[in-house]
Amino acid sequence: MKVAVLGAAGGIGQALALLLKLQLPAGTQLALYDIAPVTPGVAADVSHIPTAVKVSGYGGEDPTPALEGAHVVLISAGVARKPGMDRSDLFNINAGIVRNLIQKVAEVCPTACVGIITNPVNTTVAIAAEVLKKAGVYDKRRLFGVTSLDVLRSETFVAELKGKDVNAIKVPVVGGHSGVTILPLLSQAHVEDKIEFSAEEIEALTKRIQNAGTEVVEAKAGGGSATLSMAQAAARFARAVLKGLTGEEVVEYAYVEGNGEYARFFAQPVRLGRNGVEELLPIGEISAYEKAAIEAMLPTLRGDIELGEKFVNG
Ligand SMILES: NC(=O)c1ccc[n+]([C@@H]2O[C@H](COP(=O)([O-])OP(=O)(O)OC[C@H]3O[C@@H](n4cnc5c(N)ncnc54)[C@H](O)[C@@H]3O)[C@@H](O)[C@H]2O)c1
Repeated sequence: MKVAVLGAAGGIGQALALLLKLQLPAGTQLALYDIAPVTPGVAADVSHIPTAVKVSGYGGEDPTPALEGAHVVLISAGVARKPGMDRSDLFNINAGIVRNLIQKVAEVCPTACVGIITNPVNTTVAIAAEVLKKAGVYDKRRLFGVTSLDVLRSETFVAELKGKDVNAIKVPVVGGHSGVTILPLLSQAHVEDKIEFSAEEIEALTKRIQNAGTEVVEAKAGGGSATLSMAQAAARFARAVLKGLTGEEVVEYAYVEGNGEYARFFAQPVRLGRNGVEELLPIGEISAYEKAAIEAMLPTLRGDIELGEKFVNG
């Protein structure tokens, strides 16, 4: 199998390259691409780590050699937030970058599973879908917004607060990937048994999870946004997709085009398999607080999606 990372010289990209070199199954090819000329050097650097993952690196304007034969494409190319910025402030620059890269994906590896990391994810995934559709190669089972960082954060914060085993805890997160559209389903948080929360804890944890990205942006004080935790989240996502493609069944949370019950794209549990998303899984029973939070997020989420659709279709 071949995994391509576009944006591989960036904060996320370099950490992701390292984690994929360490975590991908033996025999996997890892292709790194970034417009930055340092990229072949990043590949050379990471290739010296003794694992059975073969690394290649390409810089410059053309991602074609990285995309040739790719089964999974992860896109983190673009600019990241600085303090005071919302993810939507990144739209003007990142929308065009994602559109251009997806046009290449449509040409070179149209059947690859594509995971979009570049923000604003709520919108860039809609852009990708429309570009693939225009090229006549859109398959909604193979396009994902990577929201696994929201799950990682939720699991870490809940385990810390409740003194639970962070390796065993499960906290679903649904919706989108910015502000109020990020909704941890704390009513379903569990290790073996359900975890109980007070109303104050639910309020505080939900806010912390929604603002966790901003917590990192502010702590980095102008030096970027989450890169290391994001890289681990993307590596987990990539491993899950690859497992699916090679015939193992895996359940992951991702922002995908579902049945439109809430919005055209919605982060939810999906069963991954040989074709990407094999089955959309229901979000299950949720609390009154979570129902209200979903209703409240929908205008924002739908607006974000429409912005992406209009960017491509005018
Ligand atoms: N989905 C998530 O949960 C999540 C979490 C954190 C960050 N992000 C997003 O990921 C993106 C990347 O963040 P980062 O911290 O790695 O940023 P960064 O600035 O460190 O790296 C971005 C890289 O993209 C490259 N790039 C720019 N235009 C390109 C193009 N046309 N083709 C190829 N490469 C190009 C740059 O050269 C740079 O190396 C940002 O949009 C950020 O908001 C998403």
